[in-house]
Amino acid sequence: MPELKDRLIVALDVDTLEKAEKIVSVLGNKVQFYKVGSQLFTAYGPKAIEMAAGKGGKVFLDLKFHDIPNTVYSATASGTSPNVFMMTVHVQGGIGMLKKAAEGAAMRARELNIKKPFVVGVTKLTSEESGVKDVLDAARTAKEAGLDGVVCSVLEAKKIREEFGKDFIIVTPGIRPRGSSAGDQKRIATAREAIEAGADYIVVGRPILEASDPLKAVDELLQ
Ligand code: C5P
Repeated sequence: MPELKDRLIVALDVDTLEKAEKIVSVLGNKVQFYKVGSQLFTAYGPKAIEMAAGKGGKVFLDLKFHDIPNTVYSATASGTSPNVFMMTVHVQGGIGMLKKAAEGAAMRARELNIKKPFVVGVTKLTSEESGVKDVLDAARTAKEAGLDGVVCSVLEAKKIREEFGKDFIIVTPGIRPRGSSAGDQKRIATAREAIEAGADYIVVGRPILEASDPLKAVDELLQ
């Protein structure tokens, strides 16, 4: 079973490239995966990905594409590069859009002769209240469309793992050490609970970014 270190994705949800670079430098070889989301990408574009990759990180491009199928096909193609190991689309976009999302990434990966990044579907945002049934339905749509996995909360992870088996990637944000602030997140759990529920990757932002000592926060989390 991979260690938590091989599962931790730190969300670079900061407003400047300098701050993101500082986080990546401070966390050093403790963290291999970084999430570049809409805040950093809107401001800096591919430079944000190159920065993390330049320091040895692999990037989870979390832009949650949700548009007409043709546009999403082009977007996942554009997101496909050797530095991006995974990206997100919104399952709400529907099966036609999701199929095109998978195809766009596969097409560009073939062109570049690289491994296709995982394309995972956001089922329901972890900041929203949601029933397990809705999330499972979304996961079924994602699977049927040929996506590699889903983003869900820890609360649904176990059921998804049971139904879809070990090859379906489960990414869980909404991770909070016990006693820390939930912020805007609603469906939260600890890192341990996430791993026990079968998550392949956990995404952690504020508990690390807002810590007075981010490296210590990562160490504590890994323990
Ligand atoms: O700061 P926090 O740990 O709550 O950050 C969680 C990150 O995961 C944010 O960047 C958020 O955009 C992302 N995310 C989420 N829920 C989803 C998908 C992504 O919180 N369903």
